[in-house]
Amino acid sequence: SFLVTTALVSTLAFGSSVSAETSQTSNWTIEDASQIERTKDTTAPYIEPDFEKMAPELHVWDTWPLRNKDGSVAKVNGYYVIFSLTAPSDLLPGKRHDVATIRYFYSKDGKSWKLGGEAFDPTGAYGSRQWAGSAMIEDGELNLFYTATGRKGEEGVTYEQRLALAKGEVNASSEGISFENFDHSIILEPEGEHYQTEEQAAQGDIGYTFRDPWFFEDPKTGKDYILFEGNSAGTPAERTLDTNYIGSRSFQKDFSFTDEGFAKLFNGAIGIAEATNDSYTEYEALPPILEANYVNQELERPHIVTKGNQYYLFTNTHEHKFGPDLDAPDGLYGFSSDELTSGYEPLNDSGLVLANPEEHAYQSYSWMVLPNGKVISFYNFHDLDGKNISDLGGTTPEYQMSHFGGTLAPTIKLAIQNDKTKVIKDGHPGKIK
Ligand code: FRU
Repeated sequence: SFLVTTALVSTLAFGSSVSAETSQTSNWTIEDASQIERTKDTTAPYIEPDFEKMAPELHVWDTWPLRNKDGSVAKVNGYYVIFSLTAPSDLLPGKRHDVATIRYFYSKDGKSWKLGGEAFDPTGAYGSRQWAGSAMIEDGELNLFYTATGRKGEEGVTYEQRLALAKGEVNASSEGISFENFDHSIILEPEGEHYQTEEQAAQGDIGYTFRDPWFFEDPKTGKDYILFEGNSAGTPAERTLDTNYIGSRSFQKDFSFTDEGFAKLFNGAIGIAEATNDSYTEYEALPPILEANYVNQELERPHIVTKGNQYYLFTNTHEHKFGPDLDAPDGLYGFSSDELTSGYEPLNDSGLVLANPEEHAYQSYSWMVLPNGKVISFYNFHDLDGKNISDLGGTTPEYQMSHFGGTLAPTIKLAIQNDKTKVIKDGHPGKIK
């Protein structure tokens, strides 16, 4: 009887610790994602290619507004501020990620943006270049979260990604806004237990990500977090198929992988870490809030908008980041739950919130939903000649230069009701109000 009891106790203990772990991470399943299909409510309007660039001397892509700690868009001395990844516009668009620099723009009306300059001097920052993040102002101090990509002084371009924070002073006058006296720190690196390290990914995976820190104060608990793009931990050899990745029992019965070994390499995750000090420089990594194992490789720029009792979690991904059993467009995808770290269900059943029109499938990217339901993004590829191609990489330099937008796209207004969303209308490029 002693033996029976211990066996029972250990089974219970094992059972409960496993369920605590699995109940925390929601799955975006193959069943969910196989329902992805453009509808009227999830398709963005076509963008006429008669736009004016917001900064003709720059390519502008991933953009985020300066927010208050509670997530609302901030106004400093009468000015709104946005931060954008930028590169000189005479550079081949495909090369821009290798030299990305964070610049800021400011505006009184929240739609006509004036270039302020570099957010900080990149020589004092971490990384050989800086990728996307988020920005929060508290008591007059700027907290600019960014991705430190590669290492200072590296010879060739490398892709290590670490989450970083630059704290700076804000100077606001009738002349505009500027920032100074930055202090940089690395705030989080993958540890290989919840989030994949570069080294684990190098053992047979198709890539690795650890980027796009996005600050979030939970209105229900007042606790502070960062969300980020990551990958489920471990090497491909260590990874096993959990049937929950596939979907419901009835879906599982009829499903078979076209290439399970390849599908296994898709392990996108939305990470979360809780701040453990008041200056936002230290965090404890928690299990991912969402994983897309066997489904998708890159869940980019995750962010949350709250409405009523619900958390709305949004992320961006590309057509070519879906696994071999799925066919889905570049788009903004979303999930909702009444708890921050568990229970996420895809919006609109499949997760698709916003895609480009099918005939212009790559016209914009890197959507970000603001608390007022406005969605900003950048104008990516335009197809003046009717060609609808996903990658400018293989084209001539002239073609690349003449087909990259590199400026903010028309803002889209989204209606969100329970677990459904709807594109309502589009408006002025880069309008955040
Ligand atoms: C999305 C993205 C981000 C990254 C940036 C690099 O467009 O891939 O995840 O921070 O671009 O340019």
